[in-house]
Amino acid sequence: MPTVTIHPTGEVIHLEPEETVLSGLYRAGFAYTVGCRRGGCAICKVDCRSGSFAYHHPIADTVLSADERGDGTCLTCRAVPEGDITIELRGEEIRLVNRFLHQINDRARQRAAAHAAAIDASGTTHKEQSWES
Ligand code: FES
Repeated sequence: MPTVTIHPTGEVIHLEPEETVLSGLYRAGFAYTVGCRRGGCAICKVDCRSGSFAYHHPIADTVLSADERGDGTCLTCRAVPEGDITIELRGEEIRLVNRFLHQINDRARQRAAAHAAAIDASGTTHKEQSWES
């Protein structure tokens, strides 16, 4: 499951598979300036500093230019990470607005990390595991 790290403050957010960056951040109790949440206003742009993401819905060229598609600009309400990514907000800092949601997300991230470590230690992958007794 992918994570989103916020640069430079270092918060790490655990995303569900196929979840957008914006959805994951809000589900984890964070907020920042957004608008339509549907890929139409361009307000939720951030800079992707590492990692990759994909758009599962078309994005209009008026919202995301050809240059922006190549320079790491990330439209967070539509961007689905393809692995762990690091982003940097533009002109603002992310705000923790719901500590309860943040704690839930943090526990989920810890469980996922422990599960991945256990799989690494046993030398198996998810596909190799047998659930038959
Ligand atoms: S919030 Fe409008 S494009 Fe993302």
